[in-house]
Amino acid sequence: MFSKDIYIERRNILKTNLKSGLVILPGNQESPRNYKGNDYNFEQDSCFLYYFGMNVPNLIGVIDVDKNQEYIFGTDFTLDDIVWMGEQKLLKSFAEDVGVKNFVEMTEFKKFATKALEENRELLFLPQYRAETVMQLSKAFELNPFEFEINVSEKLIRAVVEQRNTKSALEIEEIEKAVNITRAMHLEAIKVTKPGMKEYEVVAALEAVAAKYNASTSFHTIFTKNGQTLHNHYHGNTLQEGDLIVLDAGARAHTGYCGDMTTTFPVSKKFSERQRDIYSLLIEMFEKAEELIKPEITYKEVHLEVCKVLAEGMKKRGLMKGNIEEAVKAGAHAIFFPHGLGHMLGLDVHDMEALGENYVGYEDFPREMQFGLKSLRLARKLKPGYVFTVEPGIYFIPELIKRWKEANKFTEYLNYDEIEKYIDFGGMRYEGDFLITDNGARRLGDKMPKYFDEIEALRK
Ligand code: GLY
Ligand code: MN
Ligand code: MN
Repeated sequence: MFSKDIYIERRNILKTNLKSGLVILPGNQESPRNYKGNDYNFEQDSCFLYYFGMNVPNLIGVIDVDKNQEYIFGTDFTLDDIVWMGEQKLLKSFAEDVGVKNFVEMTEFKKFATKALEENRELLFLPQYRAETVMQLSKAFELNPFEFEINVSEKLIRAVVEQRNTKSALEIEEIEKAVNITRAMHLEAIKVTKPGMKEYEVVAALEAVAAKYNASTSFHTIFTKNGQTLHNHYHGNTLQEGDLIVLDAGARAHTGYCGDMTTTFPVSKKFSERQRDIYSLLIEMFEKAEELIKPEITYKEVHLEVCKVLAEGMKKRGLMKGNIEEAVKAGAHAIFFPHGLGHMLGLDVHDMEALGENYVGYEDFPREMQFGLKSLRLARKLKPGYVFTVEPGIYFIPELIKRWKEANKFTEYLNYDEIEKYIDFGGMRYEGDFLITDNGARRLGDKMPKYFDEIEALRK
């Protein structure tokens, strides 16, 4: 938790930007695994955490912009709770620590909501992603839970996104700590991976590194020898000489800030010739993005320039042909790179995705629906303070290749006979986390191996 001034300032900025309304910001509740007393690890809602800082379940924050008042609703601990859980800090004093003077028992929330309805207040809700929160708000404000989304406020979404997209120096420091824990997780995995191990054994070793720093993971770890499946969460395979690993994993530090990194490395001590060749193209793509990212360029332009590097490289290797500008415009290269170049990073690994990807990553132009481009989460103009990922990939997805070939798709740009020679290749991705500075960009975290010889040096 930061000092109370930080939260007071964040709420004041929101109030200034909103000008009017009653903001209802529910925190997350405990989420049971299999019965009520056995919960998943608690994870606070990132908007609640940003404005109210309290990493405690079952709270609702309220910002009354019109009356310049703030409230935390919660249920304070009973003697029973103290017997089972030990001495607890009273929520009232917790609320004071984040600059909120009005702590109110949750039993009063319905009355508060009824009064707001009677006074015909301008209610401002964000989109909700948990059924219990939808039920809680719907009951209090007499809404239909099955169409809760019609009550969501675009004005509030836009104000929150605008504020949270630009990270403060303090936030950057916290994200960088998460990135360095993430880095340590990857270095450990690259060092311990050996033929004969199960994928889950390496996952255990790398997640132990996060735990050692009092961190959790920012999403389910992807550690797979089948990296052609973009988000492969299966960990049951036995590793063999010649296999290629895609490791996409990140730490979520105890402050809530996230890291997100992908490395690709061989199970053998060295990459094969062919793996090395495609890996060098992957790093060319990454470096094209590194060269271009700076204030004012749109991330869509960066993505498309990276796609051109890929297509040129594939042409040089005989897998693509024809005019590369036109091939990329048509989307032919997406057979190898069907996802976007990156996304915003912060208190969520895909920052604020719950508020709507397009609000976060787009501004005055619409998202395109072409295969590949439709998965581009970040497209807007980059500004100082933005923190986001750069994550090019090259994949040989057998089913995609088969279906496009059968449909004679892009035969003017794709040499299917050559592509098929790579059908068992698998996939590769390389991902780093970047900050836009006043005149350029900086990769967050300590130096991370990038070139194949740097990776092989760790595989000794
Ligand atoms: N960890 C998922 C991603 O890189 O977007
Ligand atoms: Mn990732
Ligand atoms: Mn990512």
